[in-house]
Amino acid sequence: MQPLLEVKHLACGYQSQTIFTDVSFTLYPGQFSGLVGPSGSGKSTLLKTIVGLLRPWSGEVWYRGRRLKPGTSPIKVGYVPQVETVDWGFPVTAEEVVMMGRYRQQKIWPWPSACDRAKARELLSRVGIEHVARQPIGELSGGQQQRVFLARALVGDPEIVLLDEPTSSSDLHVQHELLHLLAELGQQGLAILISTHDLNSVATHLPWVICFNHGLICQGPPKDVFTPESLGRTFRGEMVVFRQNDRILVASGATSLLHEMQANLPPALYKSLPSKSV
Ligand SMILES: Nc1ncnc2c1ncn2[C@@H]1O[C@H](COP(=O)(O)OP(=O)(O)O)[C@@H](O)[C@H]1O
Ligand SMILES: [Mg+2]
Repeated sequence: MQPLLEVKHLACGYQSQTIFTDVSFTLYPGQFSGLVGPSGSGKSTLLKTIVGLLRPWSGEVWYRGRRLKPGTSPIKVGYVPQVETVDWGFPVTAEEVVMMGRYRQQKIWPWPSACDRAKARELLSRVGIEHVARQPIGELSGGQQQRVFLARALVGDPEIVLLDEPTSSSDLHVQHELLHLLAELGQQGLAILISTHDLNSVATHLPWVICFNHGLICQGPPKDVFTPESLGRTFRGEMVVFRQNDRILVASGATSLLHEMQANLPPALYKSLPSKSV
């Protein structure tokens, strides 16, 4: 199968500060992946570099076998920014935000057509929030704002969608609904990459994870990469991994507490605990 997106030896940073170096990975059609790493590890910077919002210092981004000009955005890639970084003071409705996604498609007229409006409504309905179409974006909940941006990213009929921390501002129920929706879109062939620092609620549900901290640490299915060793390198601290059948639970630090709990856990629930360090 031909890859959709190939990131090759990418490096980027701000002013004189390097944020990440030598990042290489590939996304295939329908691949649902997580970009996992602690806050400040450069996940947002990496996603912005891939979509051309930042110019790479070195390395290349390829799309369907063709190298992209540095700092340009592949037209078939949708991007959903981290909601915490968006200025919500803009007096625009949810529907208008979605229609803005259409302006990338080189229209002659700057104002929305009936067709744009219909498409925006269709996408808001697809992400389950058609009822907020006429509400100002700043008045919506974090989860609803995220869906508005997802609808906007879907407007150009992308083949890949990159989402930056899509679940950080919503509760568990909303997170699961969003993951379900994304998995459905993945089954229709869309490649999806979502960044997160939250291992348990997101990453363990994804078939493929890329562990990241100012560079690529490792990648693979969670059952292979969620080990105390590779998570410890990713999160730069002691990590504990519990496994039961297909379920994985990860905890950071608090080793002494976990060792105390270990005495009360059924043996099947834990696979490996690091040696007691305190
Ligand atoms: N616009 C910017 N200018 C300078 N430094 C930045 C800018 N944006 C982010 N940084 C710094 O880059 C590092 C990585 O940030 P970021 O990519 O947002 O990480 P993450 O998304 O993993 O939390 C942080 O140290 C952050 O302070
Ligand atoms: Mg971020």
